Amino acid sequence: MSGDRKDDHVRLATEQNRGRARLNEFDDVRFVHHALGASDIDAVSLATRIGPLALPLPLYINGMTGGSESTALINRDLGIVAKETGVAIASGSMSPVFKDSSTTEGFRAIRDENPNGTVFANLSANASVDNARAAVDIMRADALQIHINSVQELVMPEGDRAFSHWPENIARIADALDVPVIVKEVGFGMSGGTVAQLAGLGVGIVDVSGRGGTDFAAIENARRTGADFSILSGWGQSAIVGLLDSRDAAAEANVSLLASGGVRTPLDAVRALALGARAVGVAGSFLRVLKDEGVDALIGEITRWTDQIRSIIALLGQTSVSGLAETDVVISGDVRDFCDARGIDTTRYARRSENRGGPRS
Ligand SMILES: Cc1cc2nc3c(=O)[nH]c(=O)nc-3n(C[C@H](O)[C@H](O)[C@H](O)COP(=O)(O)O)c2cc1C
Repeated sequence: MSGDRKDDHVRLATEQNRGRARLNEFDDVRFVHHALGASDIDAVSLATRIGPLALPLPLYINGMTGGSESTALINRDLGIVAKETGVAIASGSMSPVFKDSSTTEGFRAIRDENPNGTVFANLSANASVDNARAAVDIMRADALQIHINSVQELVMPEGDRAFSHWPENIARIADALDVPVIVKEVGFGMSGGTVAQLAGLGVGIVDVSGRGGTDFAAIENARRTGADFSILSGWGQSAIVGLLDSRDAAAEANVSLLASGGVRTPLDAVRALALGARAVGVAGSFLRVLKDEGVDALIGEITRWTDQIRSIIALLGQTSVSGLAETDVVISGDVRDFCDARGIDTTRYARRSENRGGPRS
């Protein structure tokens, strides 16, 4: 049953990802070009850190698949892609393992194909501590993603209807595990308040996974036979405003922010890195390439992304991911309106290089 649901998600997400990339709030973020300021591409390091984990690249394939025969094959392919490109990778929710143990191998395929890479297991915020430990063991995972997805559950015909126990349960899991816990949304974003709350629960890594890409309200609405619930399509915050809203809370509590949701290009990835993400996740659009064009095409696509991320970092006069915090970023449009309403000063982002003695005009 849950395997059929996952197959529906893959089919609908792939369909909804075809065609031209839509405008989204990443378009409201522009870099100031300093024409004499570029650094040497060979000097650029793409290494980054999330919590205690060192990653060679600031890019990961976000949690999607497993639990059915066809998604076990997708996991195998994604494991190959992660190994060949060096990006980190998350499994889809491993809840099916605890209902039907025959699905275990289809998750483990990611680790089997990618024995030395960085792998995240994935479970819902309803998971027991025992299942969280077991999921990490099965994947030999470097971290556990816990997804929080109240919008999706509400639109999903067979979804959960009780959520108030999630904070306590997340704290229990974070306390019990030997690996870091990453709490993520599934495309509806996070607020600074949520990031502060998660820090208080013992969570050190948060993926603000926002709207503008895969839309689980639209996907679940397409699966509904009952009353239409498409009004929740587009609900929430983008990853960009999630980063801006969470910046202070994350800095105060030493939380590593990750960004995903609607990341369409390597330039979008650099925009998120410049606004405080330590690494950037992509789900639906990489899945679309894999499904429509195959493993080699996705390896080529991710290789192009990492090459172009490196080029753009050099163009911005930086030699590291963390150096992007010194770039001048002009924020406009809906993102600026959001920031104004929330009391976030966007002008300071536009003149960051001046504070460090960098280029002025
Ligand atoms: C087919 C599909 C299945 C997904 N399944 C999961 C899941 O099991 N667990 C999870 O945390 N997120 C899941 N996601 C959400 C993604 O990890 C990500 O947060 C979201 O799709 C936004 O990123 P995107 O716009 O790049 O797709 C899924 C996404 C897709 C496209």
